[in-house]
Amino acid sequence: MEVLDLIRERRSIRSYDGRVVETEKLEKVLEAGRLAPSARNMQEWKFVVVQGARLAALCEACSSQRMVQEAGTALVICAAEDHVMPCGQPSGTIDCSIALSFMLLQAQELGLGMCWLGAFDADAVKRALDLPQEWVPVAVSPLGYPAEQPAARPRKAMEEITLFLKD
Ligand SMILES: Cc1cc2nc3c(=O)[nH]c(=O)nc-3n(C[C@H](O)[C@H](O)[C@H](O)COP(=O)(O)O)c2cc1C
Repeated sequence: MEVLDLIRERRSIRSYDGRVVETEKLEKVLEAGRLAPSARNMQEWKFVVVQGARLAALCEACSSQRMVQEAGTALVICAAEDHVMPCGQPSGTIDCSIALSFMLLQAQELGLGMCWLGAFDADAVKRALDLPQEWVPVAVSPLGYPAEQPAARPRKAMEEITLFLKD
């Protein structure tokens, strides 16, 4: 499928049917993140795969958003080291965001659902998963089989968000 078609079809999935994702598919999603670009190619990220009993505590740390538990698998994308780039932006946050974006698209291609979650207590996530102190959870996402087909959310018009400078 064309990348733009995948992008067009992807939705945030907040309801899952409970089937646990097969190892082969999970590995493909992780591989998409592993191959993502990163600042200075440092790849200072950790992809934490959570299944089983710890999902309940992770769910609680994520404002009790129930899909964290319902999907059967959750990914926690952590920055293992961070530095501020010359442009003033934190590389860890950006690198992890690119990795998760690639994973969202790979999941879509496999017929799986994900939902980027920013509503979580980072310290509570670390406690729930016994993560090393220096790891910074940047994003959480459930990963599983969708039990809903949400309509597309609106997007701003191209003219509103682009600036062409041709002189
Ligand atoms: C940085 C970020 C944080 C988000 N946090 C949450 C969240 O905590 N809970 C949630 O249900 N959706 C969350 N979302 C999903 C957005 O609400 C969703 O991407 C947006 O409404 C567009 O819908 P779509 O992804 O289906 O196109 C988040 C998305 C991003 C990129």
